[in-house]
Amino acid sequence: MKRFFPEEVYNPITNAGAGLSALSFGLIIFLTILDFLSPESKPYMGILTFIILPGFLLVGVAFILFGIIRERGRLKKGIIRKSKLILINLNDPKQRKFLISISLGMVLLLFFSAFGTFKAYEYTETDEFCGEVCHKVMEPEYTAYLDSPHSRVGCVKCHIGEGTGWYVKSKISGAYQVYSVLLTKYSTPIPTPVKELRPAEGTCEQCHSPSYFLSEKKTNHTYYLSDEKNTKSELSMLVKIGGGDNQLQEPNGIHWHISQDNKISYIYSDDRRLVIPWVKQITKDGKEIIYRSTEVQFDEKKFNPENLRTMDCIDCHNRPSHIYHQPDKMVNLHLAQRKMDESLPFIKSISVHALEQKYSNKPTALDSIEITVDQFYKYNYPEIYNTKLNSIKTSIGYIKKIYSRNYFPYMNADWKHFPDNISHVYTPGCFRCHDGKHVSEDGKVISKDCNSCHLIIKQTTNGGLTSSSLDGLEFEHPVDLGESVEFLMCTDCHSKN
Ligand code: HEC
Ligand code: HEC
Ligand code: HEC
Ligand code: HEC
Ligand code: HEC
Ligand code: HEC
Repeated sequence: MKRFFPEEVYNPITNAGAGLSALSFGLIIFLTILDFLSPESKPYMGILTFIILPGFLLVGVAFILFGIIRERGRLKKGIIRKSKLILINLNDPKQRKFLISISLGMVLLLFFSAFGTFKAYEYTETDEFCGEVCHKVMEPEYTAYLDSPHSRVGCVKCHIGEGTGWYVKSKISGAYQVYSVLLTKYSTPIPTPVKELRPAEGTCEQCHSPSYFLSEKKTNHTYYLSDEKNTKSELSMLVKIGGGDNQLQEPNGIHWHISQDNKISYIYSDDRRLVIPWVKQITKDGKEIIYRSTEVQFDEKKFNPENLRTMDCIDCHNRPSHIYHQPDKMVNLHLAQRKMDESLPFIKSISVHALEQKYSNKPTALDSIEITVDQFYKYNYPEIYNTKLNSIKTSIGYIKKIYSRNYFPYMNADWKHFPDNISHVYTPGCFRCHDGKHVSEDGKVISKDCNSCHLIIKQTTNGGLTSSSLDGLEFEHPVDLGESVEFLMCTDCHSKN
């Protein structure tokens, strides 16, 4: 009997391989069409179509080749059928037809696997792949991201950047992450800082020029104390965000750290970069100034070279997108915006208290918040409970919202586990260096002067007294601490709650 393919193709291994490839190929085509037609995209289907099935396809092809080679060996040895050497004769129409169909098949296969690979590449760059595939694990980052100034900036713009080098690097670490998710080997919370994050030059600075930071930015704050009256105070300040090295201004201000005129590097001695015992500044004219902490014991001859960093955007803006807000801040904001009712006694205190309890999971947390606040008013203020039940319920609704947005007990993700470095009140932030205790050999101290980074231009104190000045006012701490806050670390009291 004459056969269409050469003799060595007819063996069980090759047949099995061909079956597998054909099946995977058919499925890929089918799912791709389905994907095109379906109105919403489905992360899991994407993984199947563009990652798992092409894998099977390749295994099938490997089987085909292996079967052919093995069969050829057997035929050669004359084990089963009589051996025949292949003789390509293009004058034979059968052979010609065979060759043409094989080549056509190969071209098609190559085309589709190239297309498939391209789709896979594209797919692994989408936000849904990053944010939803490992749903539970990434839920905190994804939720915070969607509510951030960068919600329209793709994950890859900050996490990978342009070019294949970092693509491969991040995919290798990504592959490990997929593995750790599948085997539930990931740690909670996800360890931060991210060691293999690409330097800001290739990410942030692709959109934000480090040269253009001009003048000051005004911010307003309203505070409420934890007393019965929720005593209110207010503050407006100009944050000196200048410092870009352009021709339009003096190079002074916060963004001075990243201007081309100087270079700041530092060594951290803990794994969260919160303890910084050594800072080096190289000035415009190449002078080196080293500031050493007078507080932290540190042997600068024996340190892990990985802990030496050159300062870039991420050393201050470590939470440009995954911001877990501090509860005082959020409750103050909701009270100031009149979403929550500031006339409810102890509303500030009870809200922060309810938010900061340790809960094992989200449903328990939301139930407990409801019960805690409701019972508090029911038993302590029955009259108010009757007359203002509506505003109590509304407030409870907002407290739950604050919780859902900022606390993720399953992953241990919240403001304490992911400290924001942009300020210094609730987390060390700027005061990691600007604590007034980093001194150079000739006695220069990294400044802790309250007016060096911002100017308080208007302040309304607890008593309702308002003062304002464009030269800067001295900060009046809302409760009397018995000594000047200038000499204290805000976090000593404010990071604990
Ligand atoms: C504007 C830039 C930006 C965008 C957009 C962004 N990230 Fe991040 N992300 C960061 C930075 C910066 C860090 C590192 C924080 C650190 O090292 O302290 C980080 C850290 C993380 C971490 C480690 C845990 C943590 O919170 O520190 C995860 C996980 C993560 N990002 C996931 C995502 C996902 C998923 C998306 C898209 C849905 C995304 N990121 C979008 C900037 C970004
Ligand atoms: C793809 C472009 C893009 C990238 C990459 C990017 N940003 Fe942004 N960023 C923006 C845009 C656009 C805004 C303005 C958003 C708005 O006002 O709604 C912004 C706003 C900001 C703000 C002001 C936020 C606020 O609360 O007003 C900061 C700070 C910032 N980015 C820092 C960073 C840092 C740090 C990185 C790198 C980790 C980064 N950005 C990466 C586009 C980008
Ligand atoms: C020394 C710490 C520090 C470094 C380094 C730093 N920033 Fe900032 N940046 C700040 C502070 C503080 C603010 C004001 C914070 C605020 O109001 O939210 C700010 C504000 C901004 C804003 C908002 C400006 C506006 O007009 O509202 C952008 C955008 C920004 N930074 C981007 C960057 C980028 C990009 C880099 C790296 C090239 C960078 N920053 C490096 C501390 C820093
Ligand atoms: C890694 C250490 C480090 C961190 C963190 C840091 N700084 Fe600095 N900063 C320095 C050093 C060093 C100087 C130069 C000494 C000085 O002027 O006090 C400096 C100087 C400054 C200056 C004066 C710049 C000028 O115009 O001369 C400002 C403003 C400033 N920092 C703001 C901030 C703010 C705001 C933060 C937090 C968001 C911050 N720094 C975090 C190391 C740091
Ligand atoms: C190295 C720079 C730096 C120094 C020094 C500094 N601050 Fe700040 N401070 C900041 C930054 C940055 C913020 C955050 C600004 C923002 O949210 O826009 C901030 C925020 C604040 C806030 C508002 C906090 C909030 O979140 O509501 C107060 C109050 C404050 N600082 C008081 C002080 C006092 C008092 C001193 C002197 C002991 C001081 N600061 C010294 C950089 C500094
Ligand atoms: C010795 C402890 C201590 C130190 C240090 C301290 N505070 Fe406070 N602070 C308190 C207490 C107590 C309250 C009242 C809290 C309350 O009623 O909820 C408070 C309240 C505040 C409030 C208003 C309440 C709110 O909503 O957060 C602000 C703002 C504040 N402090 C800023 C600062 C700043 C800025 C620093 C550092 C320069 C600082 N504090 C250092 C103990 C301290």
